Amino acid sequence: MMTLSLPEFNFIRRLVLEQSAIVLEEDKGYLVESRLLPLAHREGFASLDLLVRRLQAEPFHGLHRQAVEALTTNETSFFRDFHPFEALKKFVLPDLIARRAAERELSIWCAASSSGQEPYSLAMLIRENFPQLASWKVGILATDLSTDVLARAREGRYSQLEVNRGLPASLLVKYFQKRGCDWYLRDDIRRMVDYQIVNLSSAWPFSPPTDIVMMRNVLIYFGVETKKEILAKVRRVLKPDGYFFLGAAETTFSIDDSFERVQFERATCYRVRKA
Ligand SMILES: C[S@@+](CC[C@H](N)C(=O)[O-])C[C@H]1O[C@@H](n2cnc3c(N)ncnc32)[C@H](O)[C@@H]1O
Repeated sequence: MMTLSLPEFNFIRRLVLEQSAIVLEEDKGYLVESRLLPLAHREGFASLDLLVRRLQAEPFHGLHRQAVEALTTNETSFFRDFHPFEALKKFVLPDLIARRAAERELSIWCAASSSGQEPYSLAMLIRENFPQLASWKVGILATDLSTDVLARAREGRYSQLEVNRGLPASLLVKYFQKRGCDWYLRDDIRRMVDYQIVNLSSAWPFSPPTDIVMMRNVLIYFGVETKKEILAKVRRVLKPDGYFFLGAAETTFSIDDSFERVQFERATCYRVRKA
């Protein structure tokens, strides 16, 4: 039984679609309620429908933003799926290091980075395996729609449960310090990553040519037209010989044929097809 009426539920679905491109299917009533109820309580509303009525009555402001953010799924982990990081270590970074030997610059964009485990996995992978890059200009930009997850990412503080997921013990002891119950990432690794709010479904506030784009586990939330628009924009920011990573359940196949699939052992990535 939903406490929200159908028009209230549809209002939330529309708000989330307009602000983030995330499609909430008709059967997501339970998800909407369980995610918005804590926000309603935190903001002092006696019930969920009072929160929704306030959102309906007022023009877009911070409360609407918080409601949208509460409905994003921020699930992530260190070295998620393992194989893409092996491909980066064994094939992609060695190839790019050879190609960029003259300019000694590399730019990596981690779009939809959530609370930072993905960009920090990359930063640790680079620090561990490519000491020669210490004298290069290496930019890792991590972006997300959600201000809350980016604040967490910037802090570089993770719970025991979070560091237990995917982070090898050798990297935990080398790059993290335990204070109280939490683990804090070393400053030199934290400083390798810059954070910025970017809504993938709006205009992107930058367009530097990028060597590697990681956009994993976010396109799954969007409709096909939004995926097409985003992939077209990726094509514009990715260098012609750059590499593009999606999540394990995502593909460019039958959405944008200008990408071709490249397999590195058990990892798949994409490159812009040569004309
Ligand atoms: C499931 S997490 C994926 C995190 C990480 N890339 C990974 O694969 O582990 C999805 C992230 O996408 C972000 N997101 C959802 N819609 C977005 C949008 N329109 N623009 C930018 N980020 C968005 C969410 O805030 C969330 O942090």
